Amino acid sequence: MAIIAPSLLAADFLNLSKDIELFNNSEAEWLHLDIMDGRFVPNISYGFPVLEKIRKATDKVFDVHLMIEEPEKYTEWFKAAGADILTVHYEACRHLHRNIQQIKSLGMKAGVALNPHTPINVLYEILPDVDMVLLMSVNPGFGGQSFIPNTINKIKKLRTLIDEMGLKVEIEIDGGISAKNAKEIVDAGATVLVAGSAVFGAPDPVAVIKELKSF
Ligand code: DX5
Ligand code: ZN
Repeated sequence: MAIIAPSLLAADFLNLSKDIELFNNSEAEWLHLDIMDGRFVPNISYGFPVLEKIRKATDKVFDVHLMIEEPEKYTEWFKAAGADILTVHYEACRHLHRNIQQIKSLGMKAGVALNPHTPINVLYEILPDVDMVLLMSVNPGFGGQSFIPNTINKIKKLRTLIDEMGLKVEIEIDGGISAKNAKEIVDAGATVLVAGSAVFGAPDPVAVIKELKSF
C-alpha cells in the first residue's frame, strides 16, 4: 500500500481552503508542493506565503519538490515554511552531497529527484544518504501530462539497487499518475504516488485518493 501525495498544483487556488479540507479528510498522508523558479523548469508556481498559510491548515506531511536552480540558497527558508521532506533535483545540484547534508542538518528528510532522461546509476554513491528518490514520470514544469512508460523500468532498477544495498529509501513517482496506471507503478516497487490532476480534477477527490491507496 503506497503513500499518497496529492499535488497542490492542481488544486483550485481560488478555493484552497476547500481543497485542503478535502485533503485533510482523505487517506492521503502527504501533501506534495511543487516549487518552480522559471529557470530550472519553464514555469513558475507559488512560494513561501502560500506554504506558510497552508502549514497552518494541515498537520499532514509537507513533501516539498524543488524544481529550482541553486536550491541550497533556500533550504532554511523551506524549513521555516514547514517542509518535512525537501527534495532537490540531481540536475540542479553541483554539490548534491553537501545539499543533502544541509537539508538533514536542519531536521528535514532529504530527497533527490531525477528527470526522465537521467539514469538510475547516478544515484549509486548518494543513495545511502537520502531518505527518498523522486523519479519524474513526466518532464517537470507542468501538471496534467502523460506518464512516460519507461519510468516503469527505472522504478524496477531503483528497487533492485535499494534492496541490494540493504537500504530503506522511499521511491516516489511524480507525473501522469491515475487509478489506471497506479497498480503497475506500485507493483514495480514505488512506495509514494504523487497525483495532481487525477485527484483535484476529479468530482470526488477523496474517492480517488481511496482508490489510489488500495493498490
Ligand atoms: C510536475 C510536478 C508534478 C505535477 C503532477 O512538474 O512535479 O508534481 O503536479 O501533476 P499530474 O499528477 O497532473 O501529472
Ligand atoms: Zn512534483
